[in-house]
Amino acid sequence: MKNSTQKHIKDLKNNGITYLKNVLSKKECNSYIKEFEKTFKVFESKYKKLGNRGQVIQNYFFYNKNYLKLLELKKVDNILKKVIDDNYVLINSSLTNRFKRNNKYDKKSLHLEDLGGDWHHDSRLIGNRRLDRGFSFIVMIMLDKFEKDNGCTQYVEKSHLIRDKFPERNKNYKHKKILGDQGTVAIIDTGLWHKAGEPSDKKTRWSIFSYYGPWFMKPYYNYPAMIQKRYKNSISKNLKKILHCNSVPPDSELESIYTLRG
Ligand SMILES: [Fe+2]
Repeated sequence: MKNSTQKHIKDLKNNGITYLKNVLSKKECNSYIKEFEKTFKVFESKYKKLGNRGQVIQNYFFYNKNYLKLLELKKVDNILKKVIDDNYVLINSSLTNRFKRNNKYDKKSLHLEDLGGDWHHDSRLIGNRRLDRGFSFIVMIMLDKFEKDNGCTQYVEKSHLIRDKFPERNKNYKHKKILGDQGTVAIIDTGLWHKAGEPSDKKTRWSIFSYYGPWFMKPYYNYPAMIQKRYKNSISKNLKKILHCNSVPPDSELESIYTLRG
């Protein structure tokens, strides 16, 4: 295993966060942003208006095949295969622009208004106890630079180790900021307490937030059906695995006695 991969694994274990620099070039980031702008325009004209303080579309890869690449970045894939295992899957993915617009639209009519603006974690609870660290991870891809004044994500240090206490939504916790240049990726343990920062009305903050977990965790959406409808068999074996195609339960024991199938 490469030294850098080991360092990321250690950072995730001890600090609940690690940074990967230059995963995408500035040129690649800017070209994605241009495409995202078009996708948002089409989405708003065809479906619903997006938030006033942050604009979010889940399953953005349904609208442009090029976006699928953002779900299986090689450097990230290598780490997730180690910290989860080879069979890890996508649970949810969102394309987010944290940006304050004029309040043109009525809040109630908006799609995903101001998502993640209060302190929270994205782990799961059993018996009122948070699952242990290391179960699932959020991969943040910074297409825009994450800066202090464009709503960068904030987190409470080492909070991924706290299992019996939960963040108070509006409390003023001592925190750190997740900053990085265009093309940086930050991976966080889903147990880390975090929130989105105050959006700017001048600078955009285009980013991807992807939630990954073990193969037996239920995804937010039916990805096998979604990709079958949209892409048939034209995507890679690895990506199909990430999108749960290897972990759909069989119709009956006569088809197979295994849920996980390669
Ligand atoms: Fe979150």
